[in-house]
Amino acid sequence: MVTPRSTRLRLLAIGGSLLLFTAPAVAGGQAAAAQPHPDGVPLRELGARQGIRIGAAANPFVLEKNRAYRTMLADQYGTLTAENVMKWDTLQPERGVFDWSHADALVEFARKHHQGMRGHTLLWHNQNPKWLTEGGFGPEELRSIMREHIRTVLERYRGRVYAWDVINEPFRDEGGELRPNMWLKTLGEDYIAEALKTAHEADPDARLYINEFGIEGRNAKSDALYELAKSLLDAGVPLHGIGFQSHFRVGGVPEDLAENMRRFTELGLEVTVTELDVSIGMPAGEKELRAQADDYRTVVETCLAVSGCKGVTVWGVGDADSWIPSWFPGWGAALPFDQGYAPKPAYSAMQEALGR
Ligand code: G3I
Repeated sequence: MVTPRSTRLRLLAIGGSLLLFTAPAVAGGQAAAAQPHPDGVPLRELGARQGIRIGAAANPFVLEKNRAYRTMLADQYGTLTAENVMKWDTLQPERGVFDWSHADALVEFARKHHQGMRGHTLLWHNQNPKWLTEGGFGPEELRSIMREHIRTVLERYRGRVYAWDVINEPFRDEGGELRPNMWLKTLGEDYIAEALKTAHEADPDARLYINEFGIEGRNAKSDALYELAKSLLDAGVPLHGIGFQSHFRVGGVPEDLAENMRRFTELGLEVTVTELDVSIGMPAGEKELRAQADDYRTVVETCLAVSGCKGVTVWGVGDADSWIPSWFPGWGAALPFDQGYAPKPAYSAMQEALGR
């Protein structure tokens, strides 16, 4: 159910307590147009009551121009993940030249709205600048470039970013082999341990993650990740968590999600659902939206049921800003808010799972 925000008192969750207020949570943007506003207690507050963080991937360019997006992001989510602007091509577009402007905008938004900030991502095979991928660097130089990037970024955001996806998608899309990315090809398997150690030196308080997709259920890829995590921990490498990206198609949440999370937590690691979305073949009808809501409910309930699951981040705010339609034509409607940032059944299902 949707009520114009201008006509009602609202409850805003700040730092685990509830403040009653009438002013808009976010300043700026166009003048007071009626905006879709979800009923009930915001997800961030419900999550905090249950001891988990409910977050969203954020994009400063949308933030700047869309008021409904800003409002939902600020009101509903307790953590932000940089969807793109902390990737290498944005942060270090030229060798030795860092552009902090976009990442800083998100970090500042998070500070202003009492949100935690997850850093995404330090080493990945995508969204790297040409100078890096086409530089023809040998092992010594590449190792030094890698260490310098990690050190510079973590030191800058020390105390402001509480967790980092240090390694993103280190395995091939399917199966249990490491992905032959630039890092593996030039530095060998040790690049993973070295990156984690470098990050830990630069910010000893940050939670350091390996983030991966297709590992949500038990399969060859999650088995390989499990073995990798175990061997890193055995060697004393500072690895703290596993990110379960969780890009699902409707009906696709694996039944053994909880069991699979638990085997990682039994190693002493935390887990976080880092990039949740549930795509629907378009057009999305009521039946599909209900099935999608069930998937969101299942994921949140699973996180609550697994001690060591720290939270659930959705990959975007509303269907208008989701990456899915441009990557998978014919698929979409993957997020808890719709094209106009009105709440969908998936939103209510998350609220229900969190105890409303
Ligand atoms: O920045 C350029 C812009 O200059 C250009 O005009 C425009 C034209 O297409 O493209 C812009 O780059 C886009 C970039 O996002 C920033 O908006 C790329 O085309 C687009 O492909 C890229 O997509 C991102 C994708 O990662 C890249 O691999 C998605 O937004 C982002 O949601 C997605 O996120 C990844 C996670 O990092 C890791 N896990 C999977 C997840 C989904 O792919």
